[in-house]
Amino acid sequence: MTDSITVTDNRTGEAVEIPIVDGGISAGELRKLLPGVWFYDPAFMTTALASSSVTYLDGDGGILRYRGYPIEQLAERSSYLEVAYLLVHGELPNAEQLRTWTEDIRMHTYLHDNFRKRFLDGFHYDAHPMGMLVSGIAALSTFYPEAKDVVDPQVRHRQIIRMIAKVPTLAAACHRYSAGMPFVYPDNGLSFTENFLSMMWKVAEPRYEPDPVLAHALDVLFILHADHEQNCGTLAMRTVGSAHADPYIAASAAAAALSGPRHGGANEQVLRMLSQIGHVDNVDAFISDVKAGKGKLMGFGHRVYKNYDPRAKIVKQTADAVFEVTGRNPLLDIALKLEEAALSDEYFVSRKLYPNVDFYSGLIYQAMGFPTGMFTVLFAIPRVAGWLTHWQEMIDQDSKIYRPRQLYVGADRRDYLPLEQRK
Ligand code: CMC
Repeated sequence: MTDSITVTDNRTGEAVEIPIVDGGISAGELRKLLPGVWFYDPAFMTTALASSSVTYLDGDGGILRYRGYPIEQLAERSSYLEVAYLLVHGELPNAEQLRTWTEDIRMHTYLHDNFRKRFLDGFHYDAHPMGMLVSGIAALSTFYPEAKDVVDPQVRHRQIIRMIAKVPTLAAACHRYSAGMPFVYPDNGLSFTENFLSMMWKVAEPRYEPDPVLAHALDVLFILHADHEQNCGTLAMRTVGSAHADPYIAASAAAAALSGPRHGGANEQVLRMLSQIGHVDNVDAFISDVKAGKGKLMGFGHRVYKNYDPRAKIVKQTADAVFEVTGRNPLLDIALKLEEAALSDEYFVSRKLYPNVDFYSGLIYQAMGFPTGMFTVLFAIPRVAGWLTHWQEMIDQDSKIYRPRQLYVGADRRDYLPLEQRK
């Protein structure tokens, strides 16, 4: 058996044999045979966007690996900053590399003071933190004009460090602004995640002492959210990056995509849904409504996973550790009942709809005291590492500007009518 396909153009009888390589066939070969005929693939259901060596995802097997390392091992044994290094550099760091990387990130956690004094002050008091974050990441571009030199690897690396370091500071600042609380400067004596918690919650104490269990749980969640191959946000990062816009602008576009309720915004919607259901007794009625097309079961389903999302399993285990400290989130019972009802219901089973990463994460965030508006921001903070890794890989591969084709189905040529002649 040959690992190839043969496509014949029945209009001419011409054929082309295309090898199947790494699970794909080259559209370039088809283009040679079929000039002017485009592949109609709305929502990229069957398109491989890139060759990538960042993240492996087997949706049927429920497998996720960063740079070859199983997500379960990384969640158990690594830290977010080490995982960010792994994503960006392709290999786990040795002790010296990790020390330098951590130090570099730590040295860049501060934001220009204009962010606090001028930029954030411009928002309405109840601005959604995700909207503030999207604009804040884009605004970072104006502080680092050198970032436009995207082909220089050293300049790129500086922006990668800056963005991983500054986004938590920006995220916490968005929260403090909406809570009417003074801005907390980074405490560079704390770890990455502890420092974020300090910037979120510090009040008048000389030094904020984060609960180690909660800091660790958040670090695990950061690991789980750090990358997820070619999702909608990463596509936005790559698309804007392919025009050689600077990485802040591109990451802002990625964060904008992430904010949608079908994507990272789902974690916020899950909490709203659980609150609306209100009681375990209402679960069956809610499931019936979903099956009748009255809304979606948020936190369920995935374009690629047709099996339990491996991240959701780890989130569920992490929830137990968090609830030991914070007390059990009363919405957990509703979530467990929903999961049980859906996983035994023909509608969900036949469509292979399983809980995704967003189903349980919001319960943890809520138990830790985060307002719902911050949930997607908490997804974005670690995903910055994944976006930047894909952006860097794309530029290293010297990718062309992204420019798909369309199948035009609009009006034929027609002449402009003056206003008085139109019906
Ligand atoms: N509740 C009820 N029905 C669903 C759901 C759901 N959550 N998800 C999919 N379906 C149904 C859908 O109606 C369709 O049914 P039918 O074949 O009868 O038309 C079928 O399942 C296939 O769904 P689809 O919409 O074609 O699948 P998709 O791959 O285009 O969409 C999705 C994937 C994630 C957008 C969708 O499952 C969804 O909207 N889920 C809820 C939002 C959510 O939890 N998003 C977070 C995704 S994971 C975090 C991330 O990485 O972004």
